[in-house]
Amino acid sequence: MDKDTAHLVLTKKQYRMKTPHILLLLLVLCQTVTAQTDWSQIRNGQPWYDTQGNVVQAHGGNFLIEDGTVYMVGEDRTHSWYPDVNLYHSRDMQVWEYDGKIIQNGVTTPELGTTRMIERPKLMHCPKTGRYVIWCHYEASDYSASEVAVFSSASVTGPYRLEWSGRPLGIKSRDCNVFVDDDGTAYFISTIQENQHLGLFRLSDDYLRPLECTVLMRGLRREAPAIVRVDSLYYMLSSACTGWDPNQCMLSVSRSLTQGWSPLTPVGDRIAYDTQASGILTLRRGKRTLHLYVGDRWKDPDLPQSKIIITPITLRDGRCHFPYMKTYRLNLRKALVKP
Ligand code: DGJ
Repeated sequence: MDKDTAHLVLTKKQYRMKTPHILLLLLVLCQTVTAQTDWSQIRNGQPWYDTQGNVVQAHGGNFLIEDGTVYMVGEDRTHSWYPDVNLYHSRDMQVWEYDGKIIQNGVTTPELGTTRMIERPKLMHCPKTGRYVIWCHYEASDYSASEVAVFSSASVTGPYRLEWSGRPLGIKSRDCNVFVDDDGTAYFISTIQENQHLGLFRLSDDYLRPLECTVLMRGLRREAPAIVRVDSLYYMLSSACTGWDPNQCMLSVSRSLTQGWSPLTPVGDRIAYDTQASGILTLRRGKRTLHLYVGDRWKDPDLPQSKIIITPITLRDGRCHFPYMKTYRLNLRKALVKP
């Protein structure tokens, strides 16, 4: 053995003494790496890129979290009109892998032609059937159809098949969202009857059919509804109907989904920080809950380049604190944010 390699070799005694230190060092290193990778950087106002380097196209969509994986569906507006539906997944909400087009306009639904606008696709996982279900606004180019389309698949990545399309319970329906209550009952909520009211549709236990409709916010002309439940209180954010232009986000709360919603009160700034809500994402870790407002910054500067905006909000005692964080760090696993 030469002089240079000799000092790298430990005697048995030295090895026994140093092993615990080496193990400790490795443990600390592992924890540091994990801690670093647990924190993702959210940068609002910038395009998101997937792992293939393509701009993420997932407008007006929603998120589904299963076993620590976040699935994101949304409109693919690469060509502005007649969107398809994209699926992505992530473990940290920063690195997004593209799963593909799960609904392709005119291909998934050849019987309905290629001139339908699939807007606001919303994904749920039905506990009764195990199937993944997507409800969306299924519109004609002049917004006269006022229909929905419902798709389902045995796997989150597809293939999705069209279950049905049309007006739910014969009611004209446009801008939409879904809400799954703590007992697993699912609801479809949409802007109904030429944008006059909101319709809350209770769904069948396979999440595929509307069973009954309750009219909410009669005559208030609201859209982009997003409901979340915090303990025994329901919070709903919504916007006015101003096309693609942003307007004041409003909050209403109620102890019941079907009645008693409080008068609308403004939250956030005058134009919801140049966004329109697509949903409220709830992250849970033990007793800790983190709510994230998810909105679309439409036409920034054009429809394909509309941005996804995600910012933490506080929902407490019937109030919503809705500030705007341009950049922050998010720990998905721990449901924490820090500047
Ligand atoms: C606002 C809606 O929320 C969008 O989903 C879209 O329908 C546009 N209006 C169309 O003007």
